[in-house]
Amino acid sequence: MDKPEEVKTLYWQNNRLFLLDQRLLPEEVKYRVCETCPEVVSAICEMSVRGAPAIGIAAAYGMAIAALEGEEKGLSGKLLRSFLSDCSNSLFQSRPTAVNLSWALERINQWLEINSGASPEEISNGLKQEADKIFAEDLENNRQIGSYGSELISREASILTHCNAGALATGGYGTALGVIRAAFDQGKKLHVFVDETRPLLQGSRLTAFEMCQEKIPATLVTDNCAGYLMGEGKIDLVIVGADRIAGNGDAANKIGTYSLAVLASYHEIPFYIAAPLSTIDLSISSGKDIIIEERERVEVTQINNHVVAPEQINVFNPAFDVTPAALITAIITEKGIVHQPNREKLKQLFTIRKD
Ligand code: MRU
Repeated sequence: MDKPEEVKTLYWQNNRLFLLDQRLLPEEVKYRVCETCPEVVSAICEMSVRGAPAIGIAAAYGMAIAALEGEEKGLSGKLLRSFLSDCSNSLFQSRPTAVNLSWALERINQWLEINSGASPEEISNGLKQEADKIFAEDLENNRQIGSYGSELISREASILTHCNAGALATGGYGTALGVIRAAFDQGKKLHVFVDETRPLLQGSRLTAFEMCQEKIPATLVTDNCAGYLMGEGKIDLVIVGADRIAGNGDAANKIGTYSLAVLASYHEIPFYIAAPLSTIDLSISSGKDIIIEERERVEVTQINNHVVAPEQINVFNPAFDVTPAALITAIITEKGIVHQPNREKLKQLFTIRKD
């Protein structure tokens, strides 16, 4: 059977942003149409669009939409700038952990600063073009990450991944899943174990969906299966994405990642993070400074609107955890692989020029 047509994470058409509503996958492929900046903010908060790079791209297009809204309202000069600054702030606050969000907004705000004399029309065109660039660069970076990362994967490998760091979490191709895709396309014999990733099941709903679409052999497991699999010698390496990597290499990613890194270390299994430079935040010195988003209790007490816990129970629902750099074998970026990451090596990455 032919590969099914690729499902796009997001696209722009007729001045509107179409976001794949990832909450509905794998049952339904449906797009959420955004015509205002608050609609983009809601889509990010409610996780219709999720995954660090995808959130950044959506926010950049959110600003292009805001510029169009401002133009329609007849705003110009200082009033338009203040409207755009409010929009940028509300996008910034939509999710706290993934640094790609503020990174993309900073790029958009820099464009606005450089083009301080631009007319409303020039601003809406300029911001749309900048968002397009951020989108295209992300896709290109992921392919590069895939190409570098595939060098770490032997001709036959059994790989464990957590959450979804695939095409759906990015502008396309994916980071951790990009590495898997690249290795698979090189003819390597792979088997991917997919953690289901409670509470929101990004593994079973999204990564399993991508693996089935790409016809990459994969097996879905519950999150608490990892130790058993490693103990049985069934995992050769772990590869995941990241939401924010601190200057010293500590990396925040979906809750449960840290436990996997500890398990991998005990079993002497390589533990890799794949992420673009836009996920590295040199402004913070360690993972202790990363803000961990806490989400609503209902995500834990219910599965698909079905109650699975008593109403009176206390719930703690952090969306991410931090894996210390010491447990990370290497970080795979579009500028190369950083083995045993530390501040010096990460800083160096930003000085490498593109060919
Ligand atoms: O809460 P989510 O689904 O946005 O969390 C996503 C992750 O943790 C991903 O692993 C991370 O953003 C990397 S995506 C390339």
